[in-house]
Amino acid sequence: MAGPRVFVARKLPGTALERLGARTAMRLWEAPLPPPRDVLLAEARDAEGLLTLLTDRVDRELLEGSLVLRSVSNMAVGFDNIDVATCTARGIAVGNTPGVLTDTTADFAFALLMAGARRVVEGDRFVREGHWKTWDPGLLLGQDIHGATISIAGMGQIGQAVARRAHGFGMRILYTDEIPRPEIDQATGATRVDKDTLLREADFLTLHVPLTRETRHFIGARELAMMKPASLLINTSRGPVVDQAALAEALRAGQPGGAALDVTEPEPIAMDDPLLALPNVIIAPHIASGSRVTRAKMADMAVDNLLAGLRGERPPHCVNPEVFT
Ligand code: DGY
Repeated sequence: MAGPRVFVARKLPGTALERLGARTAMRLWEAPLPPPRDVLLAEARDAEGLLTLLTDRVDRELLEGSLVLRSVSNMAVGFDNIDVATCTARGIAVGNTPGVLTDTTADFAFALLMAGARRVVEGDRFVREGHWKTWDPGLLLGQDIHGATISIAGMGQIGQAVARRAHGFGMRILYTDEIPRPEIDQATGATRVDKDTLLREADFLTLHVPLTRETRHFIGARELAMMKPASLLINTSRGPVVDQAALAEALRAGQPGGAALDVTEPEPIAMDDPLLALPNVIIAPHIASGSRVTRAKMADMAVDNLLAGLRGERPPHCVNPEVFT
């Protein structure tokens, strides 16, 4: 197929790749695991476009080795796997996929919250292991969601979608964010507070900050020690936002009372990670945006971004628009 040479780092849901294949000389990594580093580097060397996932590191080494690259499109809203500054310096457009996954991700954050609060996973395990003998008034008692305080770290699009759900459940909503969010305050009764208040008051603490140098280990031993003993930590952002070793230690000591994580460090989590031995932890394999419809939309957006960058146009969702000024 004629057209610009592009490398796509994995098969994608939906029909987006058919469109891309019809317009470009597409090389597709078809294996279920990400391309090994040497393959990614070799493909990037001659590619004009790269369609990457959060598992593919687009760093300075890769970018400096690339000869004709001008468009990088990440099929994720997060782009901490991409060295955006170096892309910008080299005139390479970078696209991401915000918006379409907001509600799907918020749904999953809430699913984790509810599963943790009401001990759904423990209950399932209990039944399958044959422990269910009778109705027991003291069995697997959980925490009420209605009337509880939810603390939202990061009131961007996903944080706001979580706040709307929490409002529907009759929760008290606190949040931290760099800027005030009067519209969400008015719509949900949310209150912007400082980080310490956020931690101290939370029955549920849910994380919706991007991973940056500043948010790495945003939740560490100090923060965990401030949380209520019965509280639940929910993370659907990025694993390194939480100091995982500190979390395991804090959970063992009973403060907070539990954790429900869609993201870990590393991914996949090491099978000997202490978190996996704790009954009060739920771990999902980074699937918060994983509905069929949303993943197909993300793939479509990623292809649209890639094609625009290849044409020399600003991608519809561009994280470094300064390339085009
Ligand atoms: C993202 O988009 O950044 C998620 O982590 C995967 O959907």
